[in-house]
Amino acid sequence: MKIGGRRYARVALVLALATSAIWTAGGGNAAQAAVTPVPFSSVVPAVAGSAPAAGVTYGISATTTIYTESTSTEATAIGGYLAAILRGSTGYPLPVTAATGSTPAAGISLLLSGAPSSVGDQGYQLDVTATSIVVRANQPAGLFAGVQTLRQLLPPAAESTTVQPGPWPVAGGRIVDSPRFGYRGAMLDVARHFFPVATVKRYIDEIALYKVNYLHLHLSDDQGWRIAVNSWPNLAVYGGSTAVGGGPGGYYTQDDYRQIVAYAASRYITIVPEIDMPGHTNAALASYAELNCDGVAPPLYTGTDVGFSSLCTSKELTYTFIDQVFGELAALTPGPYLHIGGDEAQSTQPADYAAFINRVQQIVAAHGKTVVGWHDVVNATPLPSTVAQFWGTTTRNSAVSAAAQRGTKVLMSPANRAYLDMKYNSRTTLGQNWAGVIDVKTAYGWDPGAYLSGVGESSVLGVEAPLWTETITSLADIEYMAFPRLPAIAELGWSPYSTHDLTAFKTRLGAQGPRWHVMGLNYYHSTQVTWPAGS
Ligand code: ACM
Repeated sequence: MKIGGRRYARVALVLALATSAIWTAGGGNAAQAAVTPVPFSSVVPAVAGSAPAAGVTYGISATTTIYTESTSTEATAIGGYLAAILRGSTGYPLPVTAATGSTPAAGISLLLSGAPSSVGDQGYQLDVTATSIVVRANQPAGLFAGVQTLRQLLPPAAESTTVQPGPWPVAGGRIVDSPRFGYRGAMLDVARHFFPVATVKRYIDEIALYKVNYLHLHLSDDQGWRIAVNSWPNLAVYGGSTAVGGGPGGYYTQDDYRQIVAYAASRYITIVPEIDMPGHTNAALASYAELNCDGVAPPLYTGTDVGFSSLCTSKELTYTFIDQVFGELAALTPGPYLHIGGDEAQSTQPADYAAFINRVQQIVAAHGKTVVGWHDVVNATPLPSTVAQFWGTTTRNSAVSAAAQRGTKVLMSPANRAYLDMKYNSRTTLGQNWAGVIDVKTAYGWDPGAYLSGVGESSVLGVEAPLWTETITSLADIEYMAFPRLPAIAELGWSPYSTHDLTAFKTRLGAQGPRWHVMGLNYYHSTQVTWPAGS
């Protein structure tokens, strides 16, 4: 119970009254009582505050209706999303209809009124009594987050796409929840290996369950260019024609990309597209000879070395190219960020690198977007709005901390904690180990707001868990590397640090296992977690 003491007392009293009213009214049914509802403490990320009501249970039934804020098409869509998940498993009709008046009806209500202002734009309040479930939020994103909590409070069978026997109890009480950091991200490298739209959508659905709200797509690298650019068509057609190991590659048409953006938006996830430069650009350099300083296109590359390619920083055409590429990408991307990469530019002289990054920042700004770059960009002169994504393996980085002191916001992705492509241990067949091996304890055991010396909580925009794909070739591989570590990073980004507790986390995480099993999600059964039966 983490809600402030005085408020808790009040909540507990109200809930006790509600409970007695229900039981004396003859509520409850034997079948519902036979299944122990999922406790609030099983939700990942841990909720910021909760007051369970012992003995109170709401049971979703054949007569349950989902009421949504009547003036909000977004609330209606979230109601439809919840209904679609639950109809599949419960077989109930679960009609979605407009809420009327200010008092929630019996059933499930998703309302954009009455939430505490303290939960902000992304938080919510969830009240479960014997007769109703009410999610209240200030913004649709908060309603969506509340619905993710509700999903996790239902029995794992609720995630099934085929009708299950039930029952469908939800534990009674109140949750008041909001995120510690506004940015909670995942990154998928679609350049080293290409993944079809359906795979990206599935990953979006999986990360949404853990309240991740940004998906960064690493759209270009030495081995492949994955987004169609009308003004430079060879980038995708030729530069996207292979992958690490020499496979056929692939790329997203602009319509594919729009579809991903729209699907992500329906899950309250913002896409952050990355075009990595000036290094990691062999696919572009191979596609257009004139982008090379010597005018000669290198061959396509299917190995896994880094640091050998560079855009020609002294050529004016390079900046025309970047302006046109980012112009098209900005037009396709409703989110605020364009990621310019900037990492591992070993083939670019430091002075050229700084001048290049400074010029690219101006280009991105001219297209109305905010720059994100790997933390190497602090070696240039970051614009006040530029975000530096820390990917180092140490807890000290003087250039990053100096930039933070000057106001640069930092996105935390320490490679030895947050990189989902690192092996779990020496026996893991997928992945790499250059930043170490990362099991649950390591992924979870750090504090993003106090990890990097000189980079305090107020300098941290949030966290992101990158998945590089040199060794990753399928959805099953993605799932295996992301789960269970992605939820660990998501919890670091969402939950107040006061909830941080490895023992409790392992139990919470274990409770996700049966859910992932039902979802057909190929997760790693870490020996650091006690997985319950059915996992
Ligand atoms: C990186 O891992 N090169 C950002």
